[in-house]
Amino acid sequence: MTMVEIFSRIGTQMVKGMMVHEQLMKAYLFLGLNGNAACHEYHHLSETKAYISICKYANDHFDMIIKSDDKFQGVPDIIPQSWYVNTRDKVDTSTRTQAMEEALITWIEWEESTKKVYENLYLDLEKLDVPAAEYVKSLVLDVEEEIVYARKELLVKRSMAFDIVSIMEEQEEMERTFRKKIKKAFNK
Ligand SMILES: [Fe+2]
Repeated sequence: MTMVEIFSRIGTQMVKGMMVHEQLMKAYLFLGLNGNAACHEYHHLSETKAYISICKYANDHFDMIIKSDDKFQGVPDIIPQSWYVNTRDKVDTSTRTQAMEEALITWIEWEESTKKVYENLYLDLEKLDVPAAEYVKSLVLDVEEEIVYARKELLVKRSMAFDIVSIMEEQEEMERTFRKKIKKAFNK
């Protein structure tokens, strides 16, 4: 792969990731789980920031523009069609907990596939440009952290059989935590 192909592939994967977080944020808002929604709002924003940064990196270091060329295929469809014709007050507990488990699984699978994409591109890049490869390596490490967090959350929720009372109880604190992270990441 050429340098421009590698960076375009990374950029496309990032935009897809933003689309995944946007859907997860909307799904959690609909489910009334505002803490989880804030978590995906944070990831949507920070990945948008990372995308802008890689566009600038490619431009500054290699004088090139990132091309999104695969029509963003392969983005999982997270929100069931039935939700669009329903209102959030109709969501019952079993729908809420089942949707949460599915959302966590989709999130983990998405980030694991993203990690593989970045890892392979990192290996390609290593042969072409060491500093650029290091830059992409930092993306792999970021995704790895996201996977660790999401897997831990799924494990904890499964171990408590998706107890809705504790899920609802933790929402406020979770939202506060992610609001702080958003503020820290964007107050520069
Ligand atoms: Fe992500």
